[in-house]
Amino acid sequence: MNSIDRLRVVSIVGARPNFMKVAPLVTAFQAHVRDVKHLLVHTGQHYDKRMSESFFSDLGMPKPDINLGIGSGSHAEQTGRVMMAIEPVLEAHRPDVMIVVGDVNSTIACALTAKKMGIRVVHVEAGLRSFDRTMPEELNRLCTDSISDLLFTTDHIANENLLREGVDESKIHFVGNVMIDSLMRHQPAANDTKFAESLGLKSKSYASLTLHRPANVDDRENLVEILDALVDGLHGMPVVFPAHPRTRRQITEFGLADRFTSKLAEGGIWMTEPLGYLEFLDVNSRARLVLTDSGGLQEETTILGVPCITIRENTERPITVTQGTNRLAGTSRQGILKAISEVFASDGQVSARPEKWDGQAATRIVDLLCRGA
Ligand code: UD1
Repeated sequence: MNSIDRLRVVSIVGARPNFMKVAPLVTAFQAHVRDVKHLLVHTGQHYDKRMSESFFSDLGMPKPDINLGIGSGSHAEQTGRVMMAIEPVLEAHRPDVMIVVGDVNSTIACALTAKKMGIRVVHVEAGLRSFDRTMPEELNRLCTDSISDLLFTTDHIANENLLREGVDESKIHFVGNVMIDSLMRHQPAANDTKFAESLGLKSKSYASLTLHRPANVDDRENLVEILDALVDGLHGMPVVFPAHPRTRRQITEFGLADRFTSKLAEGGIWMTEPLGYLEFLDVNSRARLVLTDSGGLQEETTILGVPCITIRENTERPITVTQGTNRLAGTSRQGILKAISEVFASDGQVSARPEKWDGQAATRIVDLLCRGA
């Protein structure tokens, strides 16, 4: 290709879990500047410094070329605003391909807009299914996959899900996991921060916790049941809890601030601001166990070899349970206590690295795009 017929690609980031998935793609495109003209667009779905900007510096990612600045709102407001804001950008730049990652509202909003404008839509992390259509992310995944022209998957289970839904096999490529590309690239720098040590934490003597799913944090009774089970099950073990802004707001509103400790070293759950990518990776890689309702952490802990307890009834990432370190605890007190005691009863965690979770997923994707897939 010469510089005139370079492939024009727009990649979309919107919310926190998108940044570490797109960063390795940006790096891989930089090695193909003669073939590809790449534009990075941030929808602004996440906008707090700690939810967005800090990730660009931690991941060594250039600032977005365009920020749509759409911010928060109901699902319909947020999705609609992204669609209205991305359309003129696509009109102006007329890309050949749009890349969307994951399952957030920005993903489906941009995919749908681009597809209706005749732009090829590429979905990275396609085919994951929790089979729970009450989850907004499941609807975003189903809708995005059904209109995507190319679907890049992280494992064979995702391929099977897509084939079962009638997606043409020629569109599906099993390439591995871009989130793990980022983890492998940045783990040495993360450990160099010595962030866990700076909090006074000794390796394998503490837990880390994230909670932000609406089903877990928007209902007082559910949140109390989870927090009480954690306090009782962890027997005073120090727990680092970087709270999502919405989770913090709910905790304050529900009057639950007394469940938390102000001195991490003395044990109990220590709530703090969202951490940077490198800081949190250091915390998780040295933890005795990780408790979470996030998707990405289930994958990251599998590669770190750290036991993970998922506080949800289902997972769209079952390979982390069958091959990795993940245990699906459910959200009841009984399920959470059982999972914690199982982790404490086991000495080490045996986990296998899922196939192609090897740091090369972004290279595979960009190679396929440059070869005209
Ligand atoms: C979104 C994704 C979810 C992902 C999560 C990671 C969807 C449907 N959900 O959920 O899949 O796991 O990101 O964090 O896209 N807020 C801030 N500052 C911010 C961003 C959000 O204060 O920078 C607050 C706002 O009050 C906002 C609320 O958090 O209304 C929820 O944000 P939103 O982007 O709607 O969804 P998340 O819960 O973050």
